[in-house]
Amino acid sequence: MKQIIEDLNWRYATKQFDASKKLTNEQLETIKESLRLTPSAYGIQPLKFIFVSSPALREEIKEIAFNQGQVVDASHLLIICSYKSIDESYLDAHVDLVTGIRNTPADRAAGFGEFLKKNILKMPDSDIEPWNVHQAYIALGQVLHTCASMRVDATPMEGFNAKKLDELIGLADQNLKSVLLCPIGFRSNEDNYQHLAKVRKTNDQLFETI
Ligand SMILES: Cc1cc2nc3c(=O)[nH]c(=O)nc-3n(C[C@H](O)[C@H](O)[C@H](O)COP(=O)(O)O)c2cc1C
Repeated sequence: MKQIIEDLNWRYATKQFDASKKLTNEQLETIKESLRLTPSAYGIQPLKFIFVSSPALREEIKEIAFNQGQVVDASHLLIICSYKSIDESYLDAHVDLVTGIRNTPADRAAGFGEFLKKNILKMPDSDIEPWNVHQAYIALGQVLHTCASMRVDATPMEGFNAKKLDELIGLADQNLKSVLLCPIGFRSNEDNYQHLAKVRKTNDQLFETI
């Protein structure tokens, strides 16, 4: 348990990455598996995780991310995206996935599908879109902790023009929107932020028992 708190104190929102240090394949696969295992409402995972490999594209993204250097200097750049809407075929595919993995009997699978559709398809897109965005933040929290436990650095980033990014990489055509950027890699020795004390509210301010 001490280890968990050590990991969480070790991590910080890295401002300067060492561009020469790259993730190993094993670290990258662990990060992907952590993202894949992220919980979501009804388990429908309304998310897509995009890793940007092109240095030129990363330069363009940096420009619409207020020139934050992490976008180009980190070993990897992750974009966490969510779906803008959910339709019947999306839910059918989810039911197929569940039934395939769990060998669900046909009548139970049909009942599960009806339950999902009854609850989700009645929601207007204006509610679905922010609901899916919320799921992206769960993935962010999980991946930050996963990275920290491997002593890999990551920066949660909302500081970018999401509309411009969606245009740049053609997300709207895929019913997707970008929610968060997360550069992942290794801190530079020059990054003074790593030496700053953590600033957090006290337990008295944060917790209440009723
Ligand atoms: C949703 C979210 C968006 C953030 N956006 C940015 C960002 O665009 N650029 C940045 O350098 N830090 C960003 N941060 C980092 C926060 O400023 C940082 O997590 C906070 O000050 C606490 O510091 P710590 O993470 O180093 O403990 C963001 C954090 C979160 C959770």
